[in-house]
Amino acid sequence: MHLIESLNWRYATKRMTGEKIPDKELETILEAIRLAPSAYGLQPYRVIVTENRKLIQQVFERSCPQAVLLQCSHLLIFKARKRLDEAYVEEFLKEFRSARNANNEQINSYREKMLQVIHNPEINTFSWTTHQTYLALGYATFAAAQLGIDATPIEGFNSEALNRLLALNEEEEETVLMLTLGYRNTNEDRLAHQPKVRKPLHLLVERL
Ligand SMILES: Cc1cc2nc3c(=O)[nH]c(=O)nc-3n(C[C@H](O)[C@H](O)[C@H](O)COP(=O)(O)O)c2cc1C
Repeated sequence: MHLIESLNWRYATKRMTGEKIPDKELETILEAIRLAPSAYGLQPYRVIVTENRKLIQQVFERSCPQAVLLQCSHLLIFKARKRLDEAYVEEFLKEFRSARNANNEQINSYREKMLQVIHNPEINTFSWTTHQTYLALGYATFAAAQLGIDATPIEGFNSEALNRLLALNEEEEETVLMLTLGYRNTNEDRLAHQPKVRKPLHLLVERL
């Protein structure tokens, strides 16, 4: 599909059919998440992907009673990091060094910049990492649309309950977003044929 055509086609689907999406498409969506930009490239989030009906049922019952969960093919759960420390930066730098064949001077200067941010008391780490997680969600949503797969971004859930269900170490990470993937049920979704509600461009964009 053409880019704008697919963005007009997609919508936050409220009812899905339960049909499975192909593995290949799922992997493409996950790859889009991997390729999403993040501050310094630190990717301070992780994504759980599941099609386990028992787990999804529990997520529905304990954290997010939105019907689309029970009808999706796969559920993605985005977790943002609660803390970024020197060890995390060093892991990243290992990858950076091998991918870019970077020398010590480049590595040291990049490390310096990242540590300044990480140690800046005015920056709330969780808020910072959460912002970036939204971008990853955006990439997944867009990739799905390009593939003709429906996706519903979800932040209306009880994060604490979901963290408990997933037995997360809340000092390390917390759930912030979910995304259901699947196919729209055009008979049962009251939004399936609704036009988009968006501001006209001139109210959104200021051209200077
Ligand atoms: C961060 C975020 C959180 C959202 N949370 C929910 C949600 O919990 N449940 C839901 O049905 N839709 C949710 N939506 C979907 C929005 O309501 C929807 O994107 C918006 O109304 C625009 O409509 P459209 O995406 O269908 O074009 C969310 C969207 C975003 C981007």
